[in-house]
Amino acid sequence: MTQLFDTPVDRRGYSIKWDLVPPDVLPLWVADMDFRSPEPVIRALRDRVAQGTFGYHFDSLPLRETLAERMQTRYGWQIVPGDVFFMPGLVVALNVVCRLTGEPGSSVIMHTPVYHPFLGAPLNNGQTVISSELLRRRANGSIHYTIDFDAFEGAITPQTRLFLLCNPHNPVGRSWTRAELERLAEICLRHNLYICSDEIHCDLLLDEQAHIPIASLSPEVAARTITLMAPSKTFNLPGLGLGFAIIQDAELMKKLQGLLFTQHLFPPVNTLAYSAALAAYREGQAWLDALLPYLRANRDTLVAYVHQHMPRVALTCPEATYLAWLDLSESGIPSSAQMMPGSSQTFFWNEARVAVQEGRIFGQGGEPFVRLNFGCTRATLLEALERMRAALDRHNLL
Ligand SMILES: Cc1ncc(COP(=O)(O)O)c(C=O)c1O
Repeated sequence: MTQLFDTPVDRRGYSIKWDLVPPDVLPLWVADMDFRSPEPVIRALRDRVAQGTFGYHFDSLPLRETLAERMQTRYGWQIVPGDVFFMPGLVVALNVVCRLTGEPGSSVIMHTPVYHPFLGAPLNNGQTVISSELLRRRANGSIHYTIDFDAFEGAITPQTRLFLLCNPHNPVGRSWTRAELERLAEICLRHNLYICSDEIHCDLLLDEQAHIPIASLSPEVAARTITLMAPSKTFNLPGLGLGFAIIQDAELMKKLQGLLFTQHLFPPVNTLAYSAALAAYREGQAWLDALLPYLRANRDTLVAYVHQHMPRVALTCPEATYLAWLDLSESGIPSSAQMMPGSSQTFFWNEARVAVQEGRIFGQGGEPFVRLNFGCTRATLLEALERMRAALDRHNLL
């Protein structure tokens, strides 16, 4: 199946990642992959289209049953199908959860740098953001992140209602350990916070480590947690717009359902996405089993390449997903040339014709980083790296 991931797919015309860059720029920015989705998903979509009706569709019991079983078998986490609620994507869910758990004037705490819609969700609801910066260690060209638990707890105020957790963490690539999650959960319970755990990257762990849903730690944690998951990163389906929340507190679930059915705050999921998600979870495992070694090899190729050929650039070795985080602080690229206001990177965009994501949009601690998406063919990755190396070389920055 490796061949599947090595085969280039022309995505132009159907992809923000490719359509927003000129033809000579290699796009390694937005977080989707350049691969075809699993064949069973494509087949299920064809069958669903052939059925020919596309009316409103709010739910799929078979999908909820499949997900309940998946939580049990993968994580030993017991949920029932009624704990699952479908939403048209997790960015919507982040906004809705802030609304659900807080009120105007309350605050939401999160670790930064973080996936940028986390930063906007509280603001969209008249709430404030408390940014607790992750601890960063740089040694021998490698960057490693940990949690400053004392600073995290110290930043919580009486107005704080919610902790937005990203696990695995975009963009720093950490998959939080049981000990780290237990300590975070203990702090949140002590301060009576809700936890919203965005686990969209949970199926893309690149090493031996297992993903741990924070809600699976104990019934007490589960009662305060809204877990967000989706097939979109796992099976490369984000354009279909299906995510789900798992909520084991009946009151909270009722409130969330009310936001859709009574307040009409967001639309239901697109009907095609249910069929795609069901096929992905039921029949996509062989594809996923082939994807993970491919991504792992891309990561290892990237890390080795940067260490060897761009010695002034440091980077994370992501434990999960296909996003690497590159530190340009000692690269010699003048800071004015590192960023292009409101767009991609001036330096790598202009000089290498490679689009990476600017770090500062990820909040405090995001500058002077760039995020590089290695969910692409190995050939594309190597071409982009060679262009970046050559650009640094031309400017005597190696
Ligand atoms: C942590 C995280 N949450 C949510 C999303 C997007 O979710 P959706 O496409 O379901 O809105 C992403 C996409 O990159 C992400 O990294």
